[in-house]
Amino acid sequence: MSGGKLLETLSGTRSPTPPIWLMRQAGRYLPEYRAIRATTSSFLEFCYTPEKAVEVTLQPIRRFGFDAAIIFSDILVIPDALGQKVWFETGEGPKLEPLTDPAQFGKLSRGRLPEFLAPVYRAISEARKALPRETALLGFAGAPFTLACYMIEGSGSRDFAKVKQWAYSHPESFSVLIDLLVDAIVDHLVNQIEAGADAVQLFDSHAGVLPEEQVFSWSLEPMVRIAHGVRARHPKVPIIAFPRAVGPAALMYRRPDAFSALSLDTGLGAHWAAKELQPHICVQGNLDPIMLVAGGAALEREATRILDKLGHGPFIFNLGHGVVPQTPPEHVAQLVEIVRNWKPSTE
Ligand code: CP3
Repeated sequence: MSGGKLLETLSGTRSPTPPIWLMRQAGRYLPEYRAIRATTSSFLEFCYTPEKAVEVTLQPIRRFGFDAAIIFSDILVIPDALGQKVWFETGEGPKLEPLTDPAQFGKLSRGRLPEFLAPVYRAISEARKALPRETALLGFAGAPFTLACYMIEGSGSRDFAKVKQWAYSHPESFSVLIDLLVDAIVDHLVNQIEAGADAVQLFDSHAGVLPEEQVFSWSLEPMVRIAHGVRARHPKVPIIAFPRAVGPAALMYRRPDAFSALSLDTGLGAHWAAKELQPHICVQGNLDPIMLVAGGAALEREATRILDKLGHGPFIFNLGHGVVPQTPPEHVAQLVEIVRNWKPSTE
């Protein structure tokens, strides 16, 4: 079996030190990424060029020897494949032609998704062939609520007020969009698994803007439906859920029937997670990405504190959110070293 320590951890086997990979481990903090990124002006076109996507997927593995690679793509390939206009403006992030009326949902169609996203699947099968056997390859998708945020707001936002107002005032029409996304995401994850992804992660990056009741309806419930849909086709492939910034509502995601691991943002205490989450489910996280910018003694202290709290149970070392562009690559090497040299204290 390919996938090594990460897949072993996800299936319940302990290793002396936890596996490590980092969200956004491929990206602008690496000079070799910036060099190849400069060869294509459109970010989505870059994502849809398998040779380039494979190369940047492999770059952080060559440099740091992480236990997992994550396929280089973006969560917004789904609205793009459904027929919504999506583009990226340098320095401003994603832009979409916003959905303003439920009548527009009818124009979105998942029929063309497999063909439209074929370059992503080709990149996955090529990356799987190029990776060492012991390195797991992760596929991913944005969760329905986070995708709906971008699709309705038309860009990033501090509070996604338009999206929330739609969900609260017209839950029936909002659920039409969520249901379409559930089906599209199941298709996309199943296709990634069939192309060679060893495990998949669902990013609900903006779930934290919702109050708890609504977290249940618009984040957890659709993610569980997706997990069940994927498991019906591929019962053994692990699914990692990342409901970012939901606070103690993270307790609701202890759903071994759906998820194999729960990715924790920086706001959740490692001690709390060890007591409340880890007895039920493998956890992943949750170093502050800015600690990786700081490096040195601060990084060593904080990474060791997290390892001491979570390293005794089922655990994957990661950040609480993605690597930021100003991160010095040497600090990433330092972190990998800290994790690999960690010695569990006698329990
Ligand atoms: O290494 C990896 O993690 C794999 C690739 C990956 C990217 N985006 C590449 C990317 C992954 C897993 C994502 C997920 C993603 N994309 C999320 C969920 C995770 C999270 O950060 O919360 C979200 C919300 C998006 C949407 C998105 N894509 C935004 C908001 C931006 C702009 C932000 C920025 O840093 O500029 C992107 C663009 C993007 N996606 C970049 C990368 C490397 C930077 C653009 C570039 O290189 O020109």
